Amino acid sequence: MKRIVAINGSYRDNGTTDQAVEAVAAAARATGAEVEIILLRDTPIEFCLNCRECTQLPGEAPGECVQHDAMHELVAKIEAADGYILASPTNFGSVTALFKRFMERLMVYGYWPWGMHAPQFRKAALPPKPAVLIGASAAPGIMGRWLNATTKQLKTTAQTIGAKPVGTLFIGLAAGAAHPSLSKGTLRKAQRLGEILVK
Ligand SMILES: Cc1cc2nc3c(=O)[nH]c(=O)nc-3n(C[C@H](O)[C@H](O)[C@H](O)COP(=O)(O)O)c2cc1C
Repeated sequence: MKRIVAINGSYRDNGTTDQAVEAVAAAARATGAEVEIILLRDTPIEFCLNCRECTQLPGEAPGECVQHDAMHELVAKIEAADGYILASPTNFGSVTALFKRFMERLMVYGYWPWGMHAPQFRKAALPPKPAVLIGASAAPGIMGRWLNATTKQLKTTAQTIGAKPVGTLFIGLAAGAAHPSLSKGTLRKAQRLGEILVK
């Protein structure tokens, strides 16, 4: 059975992002996968210290972080997964601070010894795993998707952990209601992406 890990950087329970992640996850489960949803708001992760300890040794496996927090287990889950759902609302033009903090801790996926100008992605030479990206914004979908950094940052996250996007669900006009619900069109797209992720 395929294992999918969903990483959700929304701050709110049952907002647009939560619902979209649930919809893609439900379709992936119905297609035969096991899906675990990680809510970053419930996951105690410290900020990256830029000590670069985790980047010094070569190899495909993530480096060891000096901090012993929930990121350790999360990286193990990412490593064991066959595919990913990566999700964040857009706040001030980018992924949320919650998601960004998680992204920076993915430095363990870089080989970057002192003296080397830029990191190499440890997973670059491996066949990529599939990822579905989910973004949301107050701005209409097309604007939200192309004018903000969110989609690019979700793509960078996928690339860092050795994944390649197989589809993006970007939901615009997502700030109009205290208790939003997804349109039928969005639910249909979520269903399709959940199936593509597993097949
Ligand atoms: C602090 C903050 C900053 C935001 N900045 C933007 C923004 O720059 N552009 C935008 O289109 N929407 C912005 N929004 C709206 C959020 O993107 C929108 O409420 C969110 O996508 C809904 O996701 P959720 O239901 O999962 O919380 C912002 C919302 C908050 C609370």
